[in-house]
Amino acid sequence: MSDMKSYFERMKDKFEKLRHQDDVIVLSIESSCDETSIAVVKNGREVLSNIVASQIEIHRRFGGVVPEVASRNHITAISNIFEEALVTAGLKKEDIDAVAVTYGAGLVGALLVGVNFAKALAYSLDIPLIAVSHVHGHIGANYISHLSLTPPFVCLMVSGGHSAILRVDDYYDMTLLGTTVDDAVGEAFDKVARVLGLSYPGGPEIDKLAKSGSPSVRFNVSSSLKNSLNFSFSGIKTAVVNYVHNKTQKGEELNKADIASSFQECVTDELASKAIRACKESGLNKLVVAGGVGANSRLKEKLTEMCQKEEIEFYSPVLKYCTDNGAMIATAGYYMIKKGIGLADLSLSAKPNVDL
Ligand code: KG4
Ligand code: ZN
Repeated sequence: MSDMKSYFERMKDKFEKLRHQDDVIVLSIESSCDETSIAVVKNGREVLSNIVASQIEIHRRFGGVVPEVASRNHITAISNIFEEALVTAGLKKEDIDAVAVTYGAGLVGALLVGVNFAKALAYSLDIPLIAVSHVHGHIGANYISHLSLTPPFVCLMVSGGHSAILRVDDYYDMTLLGTTVDDAVGEAFDKVARVLGLSYPGGPEIDKLAKSGSPSVRFNVSSSLKNSLNFSFSGIKTAVVNYVHNKTQKGEELNKADIASSFQECVTDELASKAIRACKESGLNKLVVAGGVGANSRLKEKLTEMCQKEEIEFYSPVLKYCTDNGAMIATAGYYMIKKGIGLADLSLSAKPNVDL
């Protein structure tokens, strides 16, 4: 019986071999929030399977993700999803070269389900375990959406947990150019949706509702960050909440579609203009959007238009890879293998926060 240390020592050799191997099959596990997902991806770009079990319907009745409920549902789902991912890929578990898993950021209890499953699998198959940051996964979603896309580029990372602009010089060589000083933009979308009585998750609901409204209400983002690439979304979030409460107290009618449209216009203007500025300042003519808010139709419309005008190539993930999924984690894991980083031992744990 081998101990933990000897597993890790053995994996160092296997990991090094994988780095130079022509064909590498990565099985990946994502369980950071309310999606249990397992994927099998060949050579970082060829998605052989990507099974996603969403818990959205379960959490909707609570108006948001309940961490304990999420963990329990991951546990119930994960074994079947694993089987399905292999069957769909047409492979046996012995065909897998490495297991990649999201270890953070996210809900610790939810992450732990994936991390523990990944550890058991890697140990039993005697193959390397790769610890992947969820955010790097979101960037990877673009590599499987656009097969010819390669760094360098500027990345606008917009999700429920992050709002940032990164300069990506190589797969794992990136610099943070700007970040939110308070709330993530997805958080603001979800909060505004909740105060408007829309269902969870709020982002897609606002997106839909805004289409039938016009931006007639004036909301602003903080002007103190005008000259930086940082963001602040807590002010506008509070402004919308106060506006709604005020109107309701006075018994005035709310035009929800106009409120949604006004909020969305303001927030997407801020994201798009700073992303374009980052491209110009860094001299890169390629912009990549990543994360759940990247699914926002108005944001994509604006970025497409502005990029065309500025002669910047614009990429966003196809919808199914935009929100949380396993395939994006496999891609990120593959490029970590090729760079020789991220090999984890069996003491790997879940982290609620991971630096960008
Ligand atoms: O990347 P993601 O699936 O999970 C995190 O890593 O956080 O992002 C989830 C966030 C949620 O806040 C959700 O409301 C938002 O992405 N979102 C959207 C849209 N689709 C998802 N926000 C605006 N417009 C959308 N169409
Ligand atoms: Zn995510």
